[in-house]
Amino acid sequence: MAPSAAISRAGIVMLIALAIPIGLYALGFQFLGIGNPEFQARFARLPLAAAAHVVGGGIALLIGGFQFVARFRVAAPHWHRWLGRIYLLLVLAGGLGGAILAFQATGGLVARVGFFLLAVLWLWSGTAAYRAIRRRDVVTHRKWMMRNYALTFAAVTLRMELGLIGALGYEFEVAYPVVAWLAWVPNLVLVEWWLLARRPAP
Ligand code: HEM
Repeated sequence: MAPSAAISRAGIVMLIALAIPIGLYALGFQFLGIGNPEFQARFARLPLAAAAHVVGGGIALLIGGFQFVARFRVAAPHWHRWLGRIYLLLVLAGGLGGAILAFQATGGLVARVGFFLLAVLWLWSGTAAYRAIRRRDVVTHRKWMMRNYALTFAAVTLRMELGLIGALGYEFEVAYPVVAWLAWVPNLVLVEWWLLARRPAP
């Protein structure tokens, strides 16, 4: 196996391994009432948007990583298509819910704008990925799906960063507006860098 293929494979395994606990946490948050009671109380004021967001985002996070496994795509293209459609519907639900929740998010205007923009880009990149595959443009579809999953993955990076910033001694109120941006902007930058680095020389 070429070194770059081995790195890609290790990266996908790592993404899936990190996504699973946070995806399961989201389902526990919705169906078992675990997590921060203040979030639970705030979400109870917008139950439909909250359920769409948490369940849509949680399952999208759980299944999305598997869509990048080349062996799975080649062996079961039919499954890839169906999982892809389900994933995009979950992103639609999660994104619309997230956009609504953004208006009442903790952390003031900075956090609210960060989350709202994240929701808009999440919906936009999903739509672009879908439109590309409808016109059979696989290369463009793959690029948009990478961008889209990088945004789905914000749920993971946000919680890792909150933990890290908390461990450095900063209060939640200080950390939260920062991670509302830091959870997704570097993910997108990383994907763009990866796409540029792998672009064939002219
Ligand atoms: C990528 C687009 C996403 C956007 C725009 C977004 C937006 C938001 C917003 C605005 C809140 C409320 C924050 C507050 O009230 O302070 C929230 C909370 C939450 N989100 Fe997301 N989110 C996204 C992705 C995800 C994903 C993929 C999951 C699944 C794991 C998820 C699961 C949750 C959960 C469980 C909460 C409750 C708070 C907590 O326990 O941390 N979100 N999200």
